[in-house]
Amino acid sequence: MDSFLIRGPCRLEGSVTISGAKNAMLPLMASSLLTGGRCSFGNVPDLRDTRTMMKLLGVLGVSSSLRDGHLEIDASTVTSFEAPYDLVRTMRASIYSLGPLLTRYGTARVSLPGGCAWGPRPVDLHIRGIIALGAKVRIDHGYIDATADRLHGAEMILSVPSVGATVNIMMAAVLADGITVIDNAAREPEIVELAGALKKAGAVISGEGTSKITIEGVTEIGEIMHDVIPDRIEAGTFAAAAVLTGGRIQIDNCRPDHLHAVLEKLRECGASIEVSGNCMIVTGPGTIRPTDVETGFYPAFPTDMQAQIMAVLSRAKGSSTIVEHVYPDRFTHVPELKRLGAKINLDGNVAVVNGVDSFEGAPVMATDIRASSALILAGLVAEGETKVLRVYHIDRGYEQLEEKLGALGADIKRIKE
Ligand code: EPZ
Repeated sequence: MDSFLIRGPCRLEGSVTISGAKNAMLPLMASSLLTGGRCSFGNVPDLRDTRTMMKLLGVLGVSSSLRDGHLEIDASTVTSFEAPYDLVRTMRASIYSLGPLLTRYGTARVSLPGGCAWGPRPVDLHIRGIIALGAKVRIDHGYIDATADRLHGAEMILSVPSVGATVNIMMAAVLADGITVIDNAAREPEIVELAGALKKAGAVISGEGTSKITIEGVTEIGEIMHDVIPDRIEAGTFAAAAVLTGGRIQIDNCRPDHLHAVLEKLRECGASIEVSGNCMIVTGPGTIRPTDVETGFYPAFPTDMQAQIMAVLSRAKGSSTIVEHVYPDRFTHVPELKRLGAKINLDGNVAVVNGVDSFEGAPVMATDIRASSALILAGLVAEGETKVLRVYHIDRGYEQLEEKLGALGADIKRIKE
């Protein structure tokens, strides 16, 4: 139950290096279950979620070690096929064990993840996908219980381009008998990353990054060796911090090409953004301009940047509208931003943000990874002290955030409780 104590306002200045992407690393770690051998990954962020996935692999009999961003996994000794509720409820991505266990071992028992702070997050598409590949599935005491002799290829259309369902079905199809086509698949860079790593290990996949992915099943794949891409949401968070604080930040080891929609909106707010290779320099304006934002599936504006841009627009000169299409209830950060003085009206999945000239520091409560980063950003420009409670959410998704912000001039410290 650590918290952060932030003294503001401040103007961020300097350079920051982006860590590996949580949402690319988690599926990659689960994919090691397909190999039955040793896998190694570079540029791995040491996050709470990394440790949780290592714990889950451990429960399945898979040993792993993480040192200086290098992760070694030995998946040659799988002894259990059950992902327990106690782990799955702390990290939904545990469900990524379903596809690989089922396709390689013919059985998987994975706890249903349950809901989260912003409402129901069903996994029906994951289940429908593996049933289409020939699995027998029953829901038993809160667990997905799936079995299959050998999965077979199938054609399917996802009703929503779900990242998680695309990941699970793609991994299950890698060792299935025949050809699988996933239509309306997710197009996120994390999907392209996973497909790339699997192909290097012998999988036959095409169309990743488009809405139609084809997987030709093989009998086995080799060991996976892969460096994780930089985290686009972490990079987007620091870009938003530069705009909100009126600062200037050089963001190194990032992929600006994964952030088009975010950078476009920050430019509309008045930011100057210079991109060169895997680096960008973001300079915040003297006055933030209002703009309207609609979240959507990649390459549209990511829902994982919605809270952060709301913090920016809460200090704009004028009114902005934010429409949340992916998770219509994802607004748990709103009452907390209002505690700092923000003026936000919610109507269903639409937030109208009327910019104010100043924030006043106050104690606020983090509710999820991205909401907490938005509260920290807001605390950086609030007068006086802001105390962000429950920062374990931050530790799930951001590596050394307070150190990185401190190096940019923020007055932020962790209070251990
Ligand atoms: C991934 O979650 C990310 N998590 C989330 O980031 C991100 O918010 C989300 O994609 C959307 O971009 C990871 O990568 C670990 P989805 P995921 O399946 O896979 C509906 C963060 O902060 N849906 O793409 O769980 C669902 O309700 C996290 O890093 C179904 O209806 O998201 C939602 O409306 C938070 N049935 C939409 O699809 C299903 O079976 C997108 O969900 C699955 C999803």
